[in-house]
Amino acid sequence: MFEYAPAPESRDVVDLKSSYGLFINGEFADGSGPTFKTVNPATEETLAEVATATSDDVDRAVQAARKAFGVWSALPGAERAKYLFRIARLVQERARELAVLESLDNGKPIRESRDVDVPLVAAHFFYYAGWADKLAYAGFGTKPLGVAGQVIPWNFPLLMLAWKIAPALACGNTVVLKPAETTPLTALLFADICRQADLPPGVVNIVTGAGETGAAVVAHPDVNKVAFTGSTEVGRVIARSVAGTSKKLTLELGGKAANIVFDDAAIDQAVEGIVNGIFFNQGHVCCAGSRLLVQESIQEELLAALKRRLGTLRLGDPLDKNTDIGAVNSAEQLAKIRRLSDLGESEGAERWSPACELPGKGFWFPPTLFTGVAQSHSIAREEIFGPVLSVLTFRTPAEAVEKANNTPYGLSAGVWTEKGSRILWMADKLRAGVVWANTFNKFDPTSPFGGYKESGYGREGGLAGLEAYLDV
Ligand code: NAI
Ligand code: MG
Repeated sequence: MFEYAPAPESRDVVDLKSSYGLFINGEFADGSGPTFKTVNPATEETLAEVATATSDDVDRAVQAARKAFGVWSALPGAERAKYLFRIARLVQERARELAVLESLDNGKPIRESRDVDVPLVAAHFFYYAGWADKLAYAGFGTKPLGVAGQVIPWNFPLLMLAWKIAPALACGNTVVLKPAETTPLTALLFADICRQADLPPGVVNIVTGAGETGAAVVAHPDVNKVAFTGSTEVGRVIARSVAGTSKKLTLELGGKAANIVFDDAAIDQAVEGIVNGIFFNQGHVCCAGSRLLVQESIQEELLAALKRRLGTLRLGDPLDKNTDIGAVNSAEQLAKIRRLSDLGESEGAERWSPACELPGKGFWFPPTLFTGVAQSHSIAREEIFGPVLSVLTFRTPAEAVEKANNTPYGLSAGVWTEKGSRILWMADKLRAGVVWANTFNKFDPTSPFGGYKESGYGREGGLAGLEAYLDV
């Protein structure tokens, strides 16, 4: 075990205000509902008071977006592209500020917000800026839908915002976006970036608040398109609310992905992929590789290597550049991870964590793995959304496919093997929107992302991501 000197990133780059309002029609405004606190999950300190948008406030935001739609949709694509390129460059310019604020509000390690989230946000805006003047060649027509109502979760606050806003704007739509109630701050910083970019007022509106605010966005009669990322449970509620209207809907929901390691895989590489698959972002990842399917003949060797590696992971201050595992985003999420892990134990699986000291304050859960997991166990079926890996075994490729597909979800999967033919054979049979081969959790704006079955429908990213925002 190495000794590390602390290397904390400075908080000073962030100008944290004591309270934040809504962003409507290019201006910050008070909300009509009671304010709520957003906390730093690593310390439980209150970061700021944030406004709650009522349905009246949401209505004002939708009206602003409707009015702006006339202007925005009439701009030539090349003009819209200029704004999107400008936003992308401003995200790069203000990358440190965004990364630090994301880590403060979410609890994710600065190494991830700095090297993954924020660069991908910029990449997403650059990518869709490139499409804005080329829609005629994409094959979905060039007619935008109108006002998009978008509701996003807390696990990748800024990245999910980018996934929603960049394609919507490129296609000529305007948006009303609601960030999650535990992570509203980077969306409000993004609102400031929109102002800095001189984006016409009303093109992007940000309304903060909890589920009720989200429900008001989704139910608003003048919204033409609804895009949601979050729990399958809320996804169902939204699908019901939108059913019978002319609103177009995309849903990105949960997952319980299999990360499948064959006996011919490069073990050290697979171990890194397993760690990245489930311990990246504290496992708060819809496409996390939360079920490890390992070929029986290499189980012992792989688990020994994996346990050794987990012993080197550093859990603690999200702003420390050495940190691998940050804080769990909320007390509620921590309670859920604890409940499901305890259930795993009581159902008979064997629980293991490396020696790991948890800070006294904040919400923390150690990297955990369960062996002896049966397919019927809750920890093999339910999305835990935390740093918890369930290990199952298989003997033949056919058995691996069967077990991998034995889930109500179908968002992602990973395959580790030396044989290209086996990768293709597996990819063909796995019922998952994304199949990674000899890697995991790799994201790129050019590549479509989305699920099968209870993981939702529609695709985000890439050429396919344009379809969701055009009147095809
Ligand atoms: P959630 O689905 O309740 O929250 C996601 C977003 O939806 C938030 O902005 C929330 O305010 C909003 N929302 C809640 N109720 C709504 C409604 N009736 N209408 C419109 N919007 C509504 O997820 P939550 O409670 O934060 O997490 C619960 C579980 O969901 C997690 O433990 C995890 O398993 C799963 N989850 C999955 C995510 C994914 O990316 N697949 C993201 C977040 C959570
Ligand atoms: Mg927070």
